[in-house]
Amino acid sequence: MKTIEHIAIFTSGGDSPGMNAALHGVAKTAEMNNIRLSGFKKGYEGLIDGKPVQLHSNELKKYVHRGGTLLKTARSKRFLTLEGRQQALENLKTNKIDALIAIGGDGTFKGLLAFSEICDLPFLGIPGTIDNDLAGTDFTLGFDSAVNTAIENIDKIRDTAEAHNRIFLIEVMGRDCGYIAIHSGLGTGADAILIPESAHDFIQLLEKAGSYDREDAFIVIVSEGDELGAEVAAKKIKEINPAVDLRITKLGHVQRGGNSSAFDRMLGIRLGATAVEALLRGKKNVMAGILNNELSLTPFDRVVKEHQVNDELRGLLKIFGN
Ligand code: F6P
Repeated sequence: MKTIEHIAIFTSGGDSPGMNAALHGVAKTAEMNNIRLSGFKKGYEGLIDGKPVQLHSNELKKYVHRGGTLLKTARSKRFLTLEGRQQALENLKTNKIDALIAIGGDGTFKGLLAFSEICDLPFLGIPGTIDNDLAGTDFTLGFDSAVNTAIENIDKIRDTAEAHNRIFLIEVMGRDCGYIAIHSGLGTGADAILIPESAHDFIQLLEKAGSYDREDAFIVIVSEGDELGAEVAAKKIKEINPAVDLRITKLGHVQRGGNSSAFDRMLGIRLGATAVEALLRGKKNVMAGILNNELSLTPFDRVVKEHQVNDELRGLLKIFGN
């Protein structure tokens, strides 16, 4: 096994609060082990033909709290092609990189899997996405912060909803996964929660909306990947209870920004340190994660199988959706 003297790192896909904390965790641990750390900017785009910048924990420590990513990010079309990946391989060789750490979500790990077919450098992944849709970790970086942002905003909407006795359908992010919707919905006392993983939730919503007497707020959290979506759900509610006063709010990208929560900062530091230590122990092509509050390493091919909403949460949905 070649000694690791120079690690490169990049952030990719949708940014998430906690990525900067992870960068600091990696930098500090690398320095403690006399390893040079370089960052490629703009995700896989930077890996293809970007020039790496030197990273130092002394500078990074000032940004541990910040959302976004200091290394910037992108969704790269070029890396989907073999030609793009070959170019990235040449770029890594040119810059004498011994190992690579990636922070990102589902698309990032699919990219690493494809890249590992032509590049035998050790890769280590850190889960960074607000969606919490990766297997191999109970929590991805940014999920907790995004849920906190969603909750803060839903609480505000409740104030005005109660003042007017209105129904509000509030769309939250999460892509094909209902984690943000479930956590933010249960945490705000929502009357119904619609997630992509369940079709029954809509039946529950209609039953409730049908008997809604317009004397209170009625809050519905809709995951953006839900099979019906907020507009169709709103239309159906109007059909069964035409007199309701109804509004739709899409929280959108506000959920991706802002300072990271204490949980995400700590998770970033832990996973950053774990990633470097794992590389030094000779691990490769695995993602650092946290399972049952224990640090864990999961092979990339298992990571990209979706993190399913578990039975306990499904059970809660049934109870609280009624
Ligand atoms: O994957 C994170 C995420 O914020 C999803 O929740 C959302 O569907 C998507 O990214 C939005 O992507 P973009 O910022 O490219 O519009």
